[in-house]
Amino acid sequence: MEMVEQIKKLQEEKDVVILAHYYVDGAVQEIADYVGDSYYLSKVATQVKQKNILFCGVSFMGESAKILNPEKTVVMADETADCPMAHMVTVEQIAEVRAQYEDLAVVCYVNSTAEIKAVSDVCVTSSNAVRVVKNLKEKNIFFVPDENLGRYVAEKLPEKHFIFHDGFCHVHKSIKAENLKAAKNVYPDALVLTHPECTADVIALSDFVGSTSEIIDFATKSDAEKFIICTEMGVFFELSQKNPKKKFYSVGHRQFCPNMKKVTLEKVLQALETMEPVMELPEDVRVNAEKPLSRMLELAK
Ligand code: 13P
Ligand code: SF4
Repeated sequence: MEMVEQIKKLQEEKDVVILAHYYVDGAVQEIADYVGDSYYLSKVATQVKQKNILFCGVSFMGESAKILNPEKTVVMADETADCPMAHMVTVEQIAEVRAQYEDLAVVCYVNSTAEIKAVSDVCVTSSNAVRVVKNLKEKNIFFVPDENLGRYVAEKLPEKHFIFHDGFCHVHKSIKAENLKAAKNVYPDALVLTHPECTADVIALSDFVGSTSEIIDFATKSDAEKFIICTEMGVFFELSQKNPKKKFYSVGHRQFCPNMKKVTLEKVLQALETMEPVMELPEDVRVNAEKPLSRMLELAK
């Protein structure tokens, strides 16, 4: 039996829904039941009927699914697929800033560990960060861990006072303004679509800034035919599926997240066979991390 057929059969037998992020390999996106950006995936995880979730993405995504659905079993396609940015802020650093401000909200990008979420006031994703932070009553915002996303949000909300952390995504940071300028010279009529994890100089050269889903939606609705894409290469799969006649260009060969690419069809099949590795969290961490995630889902509506 073909691998894809085996996957479908086991899914049915074991009551498993497969969720995948746009950065995983196209072959994995193709077999997934739901593919999306971080916000969509955290929302959809609360709506699926199946008893078991198989997550094709990095650890913090599987953690969010478990935090929001303690009664479900969350299996990771690859438990070593982890986002380095998720580990770039510590509980102690958050406590230090909390001690300095009375009127403070700790805003935690979902790309963070469950332990960090558990000591934060609200979570955000790249698609809802501006809306969520705008709705907070606190004036001072400690934005962790991603500095680039924090600065992008701060620019849109001058009424707030931001304290930034120095976390970053190595994939988006490797997209350089000088390389983007060179790509624009080669494709002068292409629109530049950029993820807000990119640096400010790349964002300044862009026509549109948004999450992976927002980039895909923008390109799909646009009348333009050529686009330079400043985010991880995985989005090219959905971009091309939805827009077979449009042309998409990268800025360089480093737009590649090695952790997302650890997820393969073979590992999906293996995880379905064994129903392992299972995402587990200490219950106190899960309960405390659930509050900022649920608050995000509420404020982002
Ligand atoms: P979004 O899919 O929410 O845009 O997130 C991008 C990302 O870096 C996930 O790791
Ligand atoms: Fe983390 Fe960046 Fe990879 Fe997303 S693309 S998982 S932020 S390293």
